[in-house]
Amino acid sequence: MMKGLKKWRLFSLLALMTVFLSACGEEYISTLQPAGAVGKEQFDLLLFSITIMTLVVVVVSVIYLYAFVKFRRSKVGEDHMPKQVEGSHVLETIWTVIPIVLLLILAVPTLMSTYKFADVAAMDEVDENNEKVALTVNVTAKLYWWEFEYPDLGIVTAQELVVPTGEKVYFNLKSADVKHSFWIPSIGGKMDTNVENINKFYLVFDEESEGLKDGVFYGKCAELCGPSHALMDFKVKTLSPEAFDTWVASMQDTEGQTADAESTDLGEATFAANCLGCHAVTSVTGMPAGAAMGPNLTTFGDRSHIVGFLDHTKENLVKWIENPEEYKPGNLMSGKYNELSDEEISAVADYIMSLSVEQ
Ligand code: CUA
Repeated sequence: MMKGLKKWRLFSLLALMTVFLSACGEEYISTLQPAGAVGKEQFDLLLFSITIMTLVVVVVSVIYLYAFVKFRRSKVGEDHMPKQVEGSHVLETIWTVIPIVLLLILAVPTLMSTYKFADVAAMDEVDENNEKVALTVNVTAKLYWWEFEYPDLGIVTAQELVVPTGEKVYFNLKSADVKHSFWIPSIGGKMDTNVENINKFYLVFDEESEGLKDGVFYGKCAELCGPSHALMDFKVKTLSPEAFDTWVASMQDTEGQTADAESTDLGEATFAANCLGCHAVTSVTGMPAGAAMGPNLTTFGDRSHIVGFLDHTKENLVKWIENPEEYKPGNLMSGKYNELSDEEISAVADYIMSLSVEQ
């Protein structure tokens, strides 16, 4: 009975794992299908380590089985005493040297890659016009959302990182509150975002994300940071260099854009009176500090998800405004604004959904 139960438990565990792991093969989120040079090299390291580990398991298993079969009591008799080898210099040397060699074989490429991925010397290179050559993005993790600032382009956005393909993109990672971790499984990472220091690394994006499910790569917070840690998602839109330049120009064109409290549009007026204190609707940097309290909403209409994980529909936005706490427990928006009527919420949702820089 107990034996049957144990087998049944093992079987259900395996079945459950199959269900969970079946989502791991998706291009937009799988480490096993890397879509960038860094992710590819990390994947190769992974395969390399697994190969060496498998080799060790196979060799040990073969020796074990050999001893198991060769020294069966029925074969060698009751009183057989095998040759005693304790203290053998030759054997001791062999089983000390082999693991050291294996560890060296593992360590050398791993260390070389680690230093390579952390090499951000090119981040500060400038051309003859004293302009930065490489694209840098400052990432700030906040409870429970992500801010992306492009210091050399003077623009800022939230929740959806937009980057060009085919070049190294450099990242300055920091956190505004507690420790988070920046991870784009298909592209590379992860790296912690801390409050007390800035971590730096680069990533390369090989493929345009347009053909993927939702048209984006998925990014995650990979450090347990609070009750809504699992919901602290972001997305990554990868564009051809030309399309990226167009996007940057459209973002810069939003300079001075704001919501008018006197507007005849109920949504805009309600937004200006209740939301504008924390959410900016212009993507240009250098806003007063308060305007960056909440995610910048300039590109809200272009996003693939609401608050990182809900489908991009007006209904979901309305539900979120009605009760953010229900969707992201512990978020900093709950209770920070006046109660709005159903009509006002609907109008505000229409207004926010209309914010867009893409044609
Ligand atoms: Cu932020 Cu987990």
